[in-house]
Amino acid sequence: MSSSSGLAGRTAVVTGATRGIGRAVARELAAAGARVCVTGRDADAVRRTAAELGGIGLAGSVADPGHPLELTELVLREYGRIDVVVNNAATNQPYGPLMAVDPEAWRAAFAVNVEAPLRLVQCAWHAWLREHGGAVVNICTEGAEHVGPHVGAYGTSKAALLHLTRQLAGELAPGVRVNSVSPGLVRTDLARFVWEPGEAEVAAGLPAGRIGEPEDVARAVAWLVSDAAAWITGADLLVDGGTRVRAAYSSAGYAVHDRLRRAHHLPGA
Ligand SMILES: NC(=O)c1ccc[n+]([C@@H]2O[C@H](COP(=O)([O-])OP(=O)(O)OC[C@H]3O[C@@H](n4cnc5c(N)ncnc54)[C@H](OP(=O)(O)O)[C@@H]3O)[C@@H](O)[C@H]2O)c1
Repeated sequence: MSSSSGLAGRTAVVTGATRGIGRAVARELAAAGARVCVTGRDADAVRRTAAELGGIGLAGSVADPGHPLELTELVLREYGRIDVVVNNAATNQPYGPLMAVDPEAWRAAFAVNVEAPLRLVQCAWHAWLREHGGAVVNICTEGAEHVGPHVGAYGTSKAALLHLTRQLAGELAPGVRVNSVSPGLVRTDLARFVWEPGEAEVAAGLPAGRIGEPEDVARAVAWLVSDAAAWITGADLLVDGGTRVRAAYSSAGYAVHDRLRRAHHLPGA
């Protein structure tokens, strides 16, 4: 390996990597020298992204019972090792007050946001990580720390993922480091309904003066899985443009919550 941030010779799996934060993460890891495997439900997008990154891909939902094992087996068959797992795929459904939430939709959200990351780590652990070590990063959210309008299911599942991260960090040490990255508002499709209507207003309320770009998150993930972060496990790295400290910066209301409050359903939901 050429430097402490290099990933040459290593293999990384990034779930939900055909667009947004996941694709930026896969691109950043590939640029650092890793061979990457990307996933997503849209098979054409998976093929395109894998080709673009010179990697491989598997189409399917992370919540499908056989998917994590199939993914692990593919990576081992093609690359012979699995050093890095980035659990990025997520859903922000069901949207709305918890008293109106359909229990089936709640279960589906937890299957994607909490259960799937655990199952993929279990598969990677048994296949490679237990014997050889490695690094896991779970993508949580800055919002998991507090409550917000209409995002109760999402926030609760991400808070569970945050706890899962810490629990795994303890259980899988010392060979495997497990950390999370918690983004604030980032310019992706998932959050378009929040940032697109009047982006300038949201940006003005943030100490960093702008919303996040997928690459802001990707650089943090690439650093956390590298040897430069060798003594870091069980940590949550906030990449939020100062969202949590905004009260000392501006007296304006929180524009993100205003947007969430006004949106009664998610576009396309
Ligand atoms: N954007 C933000 O402001 C923000 C803030 C905090 C946290 N996050 C977190 O960042 C992560 C990435 O979000 P994003 O904003 O980049 O979302 P995005 O732009 O909507 O991209 C989501 C990616 O995941 C894939 N995906 C979705 N559901 C999947 C499933 N069940 N199985 C496999 N792949 C799936 C999508 O492809 P297909 O649709 O083809 O499956 C796509 O590649 C998520 O964990 C999210 O909670 C985002």
